[in-house]
Amino acid sequence: MREELLALKERVIEQIKIAEQPSQLEEVRVKILGKKGELTAVLRGMGKLSKEERPVIGQLANEVRDEIESALKDKDIIITEKLNQIRIKKETVDVTAELGKSKTGYRHPLYTTVEELESLFRELGFMVVDGPEIETVNNNFTMLNFPEDHPSIGLSDTFYIDDNHLLRTHTSPVQIRYMLDNKPPIRMVSAGRTFRYDDVDDTHSPMFHQIEGLVVDKGVTMANLIETLNLFVKNLFGAEVETRFRPHHFPFTEPSAEVDVSCFECLGKGCEKCNFTGWSMELLGCGMVHPNVLRNCGIDPEVYSGFAFGMGIDRITMIKYGIDNIRLLYDNDKRFLEQF
Ligand code: DAH
Repeated sequence: MREELLALKERVIEQIKIAEQPSQLEEVRVKILGKKGELTAVLRGMGKLSKEERPVIGQLANEVRDEIESALKDKDIIITEKLNQIRIKKETVDVTAELGKSKTGYRHPLYTTVEELESLFRELGFMVVDGPEIETVNNNFTMLNFPEDHPSIGLSDTFYIDDNHLLRTHTSPVQIRYMLDNKPPIRMVSAGRTFRYDDVDDTHSPMFHQIEGLVVDKGVTMANLIETLNLFVKNLFGAEVETRFRPHHFPFTEPSAEVDVSCFECLGKGCEKCNFTGWSMELLGCGMVHPNVLRNCGIDPEVYSGFAFGMGIDRITMIKYGIDNIRLLYDNDKRFLEQF
């Protein structure tokens, strides 16, 4: 029986040696050490042995079992470690791998214009500030000296939220907010979205963009307004571009003007593009801040004066980039946007 045990041990140790999977080890364990296992069977046969032989073979059998168990344990550690290594290798990310060309994003042309305008005014000493798109009726109209029966206040072209709130119809209410919060000297611009109940066509959209400017200080005159806007226009469109100030009316400025710029095509000589007028577009509205507006904001018009201006950013963008349809700015068509 001794030989039987030793042969069994040798055979099993060899099987363990060549095992490569945990399942193979388990198979060996069940086949040898299990209830119906070979070693268990050998031990059962011990009853046939003599009294002297029994303890000797019993001890040997225990030794064989211990050796097999520890060989199984050791091999299990080796196999687990080896499988882990294989898994780790498989799961490794090769950070040097080529991922293909990634595309760099870019600003929407409208916001490129916003940034350009803001930076031009910053150079002229203006602060860039923000205002909310939902405004009070008070800031949007009343504080800006709109008469109560002004057509813009009517429901027809204004998006009302409730009796006292609306989507701002222009950026001019930012003037009010700024004057209520800050004392002169004031030099600020504010760009953002504005809303009017307009049908969409090539040049109109119910949502559009404006930039507002406000200067308030002692001794500010119309000459400062004209000089500042001339400088701005030349910085934006080029030194050869001329301006024309046409009298106009706005409730919040007095006197008020609209500013045209000379035709970019013929530089003022007159061509087909400008209908032979020499002037290509109405660029902005402006004027000297109405004394009522200053007063509404707690600024004494006997001491301070100011000028203000406001212009559409969409149209400037369209002219700068030669876009003939405002819808293109809002359609989010990648084929269009990728051109800029
Ligand atoms: N808020 C005017 C509009 O939307 C534009 C404007 C005109 C703004 C004259 C001004 C200004 O600040 O002085 O049509």
